[in-house]
Amino acid sequence: MRLRYCWLTLSLCLLLQHDRAQAANILGIFPYRHISPFFVMQPLVRTLATRGHNVTLITPIGMPNDIEGVRHIRVAQLNERIKEMLESDQVLDFMINKWTESALTAKALFNASNDILSDPGVQRMLHDKSESFDLIIMEPSSLDALYGLVEFYNATLMGLSSIRINWHTYELAGNPAPSIYEPISPVGFSLETSLFSRVYNWIHIMEEKLVNYLILRPAQLHLFQKFFGYSAQKMNELRSRFSLMLINSHYSMGKVRANAPNIIEVGGLHLSEPPEPSDEELQKFLDKADHGVIYFSMGNDILIKFLPENIQELLLQTFATLNESIIWKSELLYMPDKSDNVYVVEQAPQRHILNHPNVRLFITNGGLLSVIEAVDSGVPMLGLPMFFDQFGNMRWVQLSGMAEVMDINSLNKDTLTETIKHMLANNSYYLKAKEISQFFKDRPMSPLDTAVWWTEYALRNRNITRMRLNLEEIPLIEYYRIDSILAFSLRFGLVAASLIFLVYTLFLKYRIRLRRLHP
Ligand SMILES: *[C@@H]1O[C@H](CO)[C@@H](O)[C@H](O)[C@H]1NC(C)=O
Ligand SMILES: *[C@@H]1O[C@H](CO)[C@@H](O)[C@H](O)[C@H]1NC(C)=O
Ligand SMILES: *[C@@H]1O[C@H](CO)[C@@H](O)[C@H](O)[C@H]1NC(C)=O
Ligand SMILES: *[C@@H]1O[C@H](CO)[C@@H](O)[C@H](O)[C@H]1NC(C)=O
Ligand SMILES: *[C@@H]1O[C@H](CO)[C@@H](O)[C@H](O)[C@H]1NC(C)=O
Ligand SMILES: *[C@@H]1O[C@H](CO)[C@@H](O)[C@H](O)[C@H]1NC(C)=O
Repeated sequence: MRLRYCWLTLSLCLLLQHDRAQAANILGIFPYRHISPFFVMQPLVRTLATRGHNVTLITPIGMPNDIEGVRHIRVAQLNERIKEMLESDQVLDFMINKWTESALTAKALFNASNDILSDPGVQRMLHDKSESFDLIIMEPSSLDALYGLVEFYNATLMGLSSIRINWHTYELAGNPAPSIYEPISPVGFSLETSLFSRVYNWIHIMEEKLVNYLILRPAQLHLFQKFFGYSAQKMNELRSRFSLMLINSHYSMGKVRANAPNIIEVGGLHLSEPPEPSDEELQKFLDKADHGVIYFSMGNDILIKFLPENIQELLLQTFATLNESIIWKSELLYMPDKSDNVYVVEQAPQRHILNHPNVRLFITNGGLLSVIEAVDSGVPMLGLPMFFDQFGNMRWVQLSGMAEVMDINSLNKDTLTETIKHMLANNSYYLKAKEISQFFKDRPMSPLDTAVWWTEYALRNRNITRMRLNLEEIPLIEYYRIDSILAFSLRFGLVAASLIFLVYTLFLKYRIRLRRLHP
């Protein structure tokens, strides 16, 4: 067994070594508005560059930092949008209801496509006849206008999804599976599994599809035609050009799904970077914590100003009643009324902390990368999700038994203290976390090697019809076996109807006979 494993590793290494010579031109387009998703694409891009590929990246200024050997095209206008968003507190509007959210999203996506395509650097690239690209890597978000680049350069299109997979990603990957679809926006989506919730959630996803079809796509089509001059039909055709879809998730973290062979799980891609080291003081605090450590962080993107009012006070009061030591990541270093067991850090070496044996619990906003890191280290979580995919990320680890979730808007000191104490006293969360961690780590190749191998696979094998599920071959009626269900129902119905008819005739005869006997 061990020998075979060594052989496998060796041959994979050789595979990754070979064809270094076949360098390709790769274009990556990542107009993200916050920093976390860049941690996912960065290791992949860096490795592709060191393997001799010519990589060009279109991103905002400063996000990510320059990567060696990579040509960066920075779209300054994207940074303006980020500034606009933070200054106007638009983020908070995303929590109100799904219609405001959809309207805002449509505008933001229109602006993003427009900003990129009209950027001077991108325009220069488009007009330079010597430019060519073999592969274009994009997040499978709704920036449909950018698919024009795929046609323009006759390139292969590959998706890199930094968030959890939803119905839209499944659709673009050509993996239809309505029964396991999840929404893009969690606002108003029910987590229960009752019939009523399921019907409601189906309607919720249908509404998202309608918004996509009626609002997002027409706006993108406008830009698609303005910048490329292709037909509307072309844009629809390009939507099904995704050859591979790399997704930042792993089945151990949630539900097992039936995926077509072009959906590749690379969850944990960002773990290939070495963890940040801890400074001496923090290390001492971790080592000396005899009662264990609780690590509290709301991630990189949530500033204190987005948190509900008084939450800081409530947390400080709760933490003061605990014996455990607390590491609190916050941009507000000055907290006058904090108790002695609380240690505040501005930049926490999160993975280093989570890997420390004294850490018992991670209180988190449920950002995907944080959840992946806690799963990797096997640390139980208490989730306080606030935006976007955080609700869904926490839901799956909660169902698996390594986490609990609380509503941050109705938090009070008693329930919070009780939940924390319950999670620390009850061993089951810890054991589950360790078990899941083992599943998460046990793979034939690291997530980064997997991503690199499949990216080069997409470069070698450009005929995507061999990789994607051919939807024409599985019409809806056959996929759900509606025809056989109908045939079965018909036969069952016929038999049932004959039986009922028989019983009814017998009953009639019996009644007639009764009447004759007792007139
Ligand atoms: C990559 O870029 C270098 C330097 O610009 C160039 O010499 C080389 O031909 C490029 N490779 C490909 C595959 O185009
Ligand atoms: C989109 O761009 C317009 C015009 O520049 C701007 O007024 C608007 O605030 C932007 N909307 C979003 C959601 O970025
Ligand atoms: C596009 O690329 C494919 C595969 O490399 C090639 O067979 C085809 O001829 C190219 N089409 C054009 C118009 O260059
Ligand atoms: C804290 O520790 C003390 C002494 O070990 C113990 O008596 C007490 O019950 C602990 N309190 C909590 C809240 O666990
Ligand atoms: C521990 O927690 C789990 C999950 O909440 C629960 O099923 C179990 O009964 C608890 N055990 C104890 C001893 O409280
Ligand atoms: C791609 O593969 C399909 C199905 O195997 C085949 O019918 C088609 O001719 C191939 N296309 C090219 C350009 O080789």
